[in-house]
Amino acid sequence: MPGTAASQPEKGQGGSILILEKDPALRQAFSRHLTRWGEHPILAESIEEAMELLAKEDRIFLVFFSLASISSSGIDLMQTIQEIRPGVSMILTTDYVDPATTLPFIERGAFDYLKKPFLFEEIEILIRRVREHQELRGQATALRILQEKKKVERQNLIDFMIGLANLIDAKSPYTKEHSDRVARTTKVFTRFLGLSKKDYEDISFGAKLHDIGKVGIPDSILNSTGKLSKEERQIMNDHPLAGAKILKPIVVMKNIIPMVLYHHENWDGTGYPENLKGEEIPFGARIVKITDYFDAITSHRPYRTPLSLDEAAQVLLSERGRILDPNLTDAFIKMIQQGGLENPAVSGVLPAIG
Ligand SMILES: [Fe+2]
Ligand SMILES: [Fe+2]
Repeated sequence: MPGTAASQPEKGQGGSILILEKDPALRQAFSRHLTRWGEHPILAESIEEAMELLAKEDRIFLVFFSLASISSSGIDLMQTIQEIRPGVSMILTTDYVDPATTLPFIERGAFDYLKKPFLFEEIEILIRRVREHQELRGQATALRILQEKKKVERQNLIDFMIGLANLIDAKSPYTKEHSDRVARTTKVFTRFLGLSKKDYEDISFGAKLHDIGKVGIPDSILNSTGKLSKEERQIMNDHPLAGAKILKPIVVMKNIIPMVLYHHENWDGTGYPENLKGEEIPFGARIVKITDYFDAITSHRPYRTPLSLDEAAQVLLSERGRILDPNLTDAFIKMIQQGGLENPAVSGVLPAIG
């Protein structure tokens, strides 16, 4: 396509300039000068001829058209050219210049206009400007396409990861919709804490993916209701490491890894996988620790009935400063007491994960 980065015309290397001019002397003068500069002029004396040439010659990147050479509206001509050759630049030549005549052309995308009589040196400068403009436009288009492509790839990855998290939830009847609930509670809590949009999105998404490392755990271990053997316990406890390993090669998941890797660390340093202590544990992971723990005690498990919100608040309080960050625990309990979990309006409208 003319005017795109791929087919960018360069002087002496292809790319033609169409001249629509009914005055034979001026047409020939155009042709002489352009040829001397190494350009490839194509001449037309009528709109019909110009249209025919535009239709069959796909190397045209610039059209000069004289207002006096066209019987119909110049604006209509411009629109037709833009439709059949969207990348082509157009320069109007005219015997008379007043804003009422020229402005509509500029408004509709004409590159420039020239008042007759003009110096051919002006034309040479204009052609150079058109080339620079088209090159920049080509680069901007290429950049936009690349950004769009990256956006789609990122979304595909996010969708894939969400699918994986849902798959893990579905593997066990006891953790059904667990990642969804943890993500939802995390959204409400991060909103309650007044975190920035970026932190709010990253931590909530981390909450959705926090158990993604469980994908490789056999169902017999995942669904076991009895006591796990030492080996089985180890396999289970490796899921934060396994999850981080899955996400590590994916650049866009960089900010999500702390929640996946450290959501089983305890405030007092007795957790895993690295026995991090207090504020050594990344902030987002300390949040997910609370929301994950909260979901475990308030959802159905084979060994006990779910706790009410009041009971859950009591249990959280008993773990304050032991496995849970004390300040975040206080904030979470405050949020429960203010009805933040029952009434999402307290926390406002929540954007989607990702
Ligand atoms: Fe976990
Ligand atoms: Fe979990």
